[in-house]
Amino acid sequence: EVYNPNGKYRVVSTKSMPGTRWINLLIEQDCRVEICTQKKTILSVEDIIALIGDKCDGVIGQLTEDWGETLFAALSRAGGKAFSNMAVGYNNVDVNAANKHGVAVGNTPGVLTETTAELAASLSLAAARRIVEADQFMRAGLYDGWLPHLFVGNLLKGQTVGVIGAGRIGSAYARMMLLKKTFEIADHMLIYSPFFFITAYGAFLKANGEQPVTWRRAASMDEISLHPILDKTTYHLINKESLATMKKEAILINCSRGPVVDEVALVEHLKQNPMFRVGLDVFEDEPYMKPGLADMKNAVVVPHIASASKWTREGMATLAALNVLGKIKGYPVWGDPNR
Ligand code: DGY
Repeated sequence: EVYNPNGKYRVVSTKSMPGTRWINLLIEQDCRVEICTQKKTILSVEDIIALIGDKCDGVIGQLTEDWGETLFAALSRAGGKAFSNMAVGYNNVDVNAANKHGVAVGNTPGVLTETTAELAASLSLAAARRIVEADQFMRAGLYDGWLPHLFVGNLLKGQTVGVIGAGRIGSAYARMMLLKKTFEIADHMLIYSPFFFITAYGAFLKANGEQPVTWRRAASMDEISLHPILDKTTYHLINKESLATMKKEAILINCSRGPVVDEVALVEHLKQNPMFRVGLDVFEDEPYMKPGLADMKNAVVVPHIASASKWTREGMATLAALNVLGKIKGYPVWGDPNR
């Protein structure tokens, strides 16, 4: 799909993205916009090299793509100066390789903060109140009358919730739970984050009497919500050992990146502890779930949709376009992991 074929700068998007604002912005600035129409959900490195071709000024890519040495070298050879992930997370991007090849990298922070936090809160409630199990029960025609024990779950009000990764999203989630604006649930909230004292919301939470805690203390929460970035310090942060320190009836929410949780250990833990519940938006080997997870009634699973509100997805597309345009035209890049 090509817009403004005679535009001076060639910008490629590896996927169709929501809205038209991002396309119009690029066209207004003399870009030829090419959107990949391949049916495949996940493009390979070879697919993307073919898209880049001989001349390409910038690429908007997706978190499912492997943006490493090979692709940045190809983009640089084609005269490209800019790449933006349409995502806030950029664990799929080798920023050092991009720097080496003179390609600026952008991401899309900010516009997905509340949307992602809302999904984490939804998963908290769905897991606590066994919404999915109950829905399946109804659809299967199994409901034959009210019973005192039917789908008894956890009351979140009054529980202590731990947030691991109190950056923008973790802090927004904390605020939602703590301030009881959206839900009247958490009376106590403990925050764990290496960045706690330097984030704006961290300061807000600190002013509200909340303290950063060590993992050991976070592990004794009634609920833990994961919002860290994925790097070698957070890979398998939730594993057999940390799961064993958690309460038997705790709830674990993951809207960050799948590999933060050792999913094999989690499946085993769910089997051994039927009252332990999880709400997962992300998976270790996306798009797959580890064997056994799909059978666990104490797991609520959704397909990486935490940022999937119309407003947010259009905002992400627009920011990604602005990141690429900014570099081509010499404006500052909004989401720049190097900053
Ligand atoms: C991100 O932006 O990193 C999310 O995982 C997808 O919106």
